[in-house]
Amino acid sequence: MVTRINPSILAADFANLERELGRISTADLAHVDVMDNHFVPNLTLGLPVVERLLQVSPIPLDLHLMIDDPDRWAPDYAEAGAYSVTFHAEAAADAIGLARRLRDIGARAGIALKPGTPVEPYLDLLAEFDQVLVMTVEPGFGGQSFMASTMPKLSLLADAVRASGLDVWLQVDGGITEDTIAQAAQAGANTFVAGSSVFNGDPAGQIARLRAAATLHSHAH
Ligand code: DX5
Ligand code: ZN
Repeated sequence: MVTRINPSILAADFANLERELGRISTADLAHVDVMDNHFVPNLTLGLPVVERLLQVSPIPLDLHLMIDDPDRWAPDYAEAGAYSVTFHAEAAADAIGLARRLRDIGARAGIALKPGTPVEPYLDLLAEFDQVLVMTVEPGFGGQSFMASTMPKLSLLADAVRASGLDVWLQVDGGITEDTIAQAAQAGANTFVAGSSVFNGDPAGQIARLRAAATLHSHAH
């Protein structure tokens, strides 16, 4: 069972992003939150900044697009070289068509579900996606509390992935700490986004501690 730790640079020092990426080089992927002030109330960064991050990052980028009209904008991030591009189910007009375009360009295609969005419609569509992101907070801001109420969605996904034989990564994002990561791992997550809990301390040490806790409690054990 592989455990991936993806620190979210939303919690990093935005004046020194190259240096901050260097501090998380022992992580699997760097999670980049794109927010457009429409799909979510917050505003972060967009394609020009991502293009520079791609040039300087020691690890691949995991894009999380919290934007309206991803059908129009998400392929640009794949074209730029993002390893993984995740868009929101609630915002996409044609999620399957978009995922296929992202894959054609060469990126991994991910679909994200807000806490209130049911997972059932996607359980039969797993072959279309490389990753499903179960949001464990309402998207928009770092530093919120983990919502355990989202864990049943992960269990359903983990069962469906196992039954399908596919290698779909199950990602959680929001409020992931050394205390909450075990619940998410037990429910079936294998890819963990963590912002505050990585950057509000010694990032390399935090990455190692999160990885150890997730591996210890992994669903497969
Ligand atoms: C929230 C973002 C998260 C955020 C997580 O909408 O998608 O990636 O950075 O931050 P923490 O880990 O602080 O909850
Ligand atoms: Zn995110």
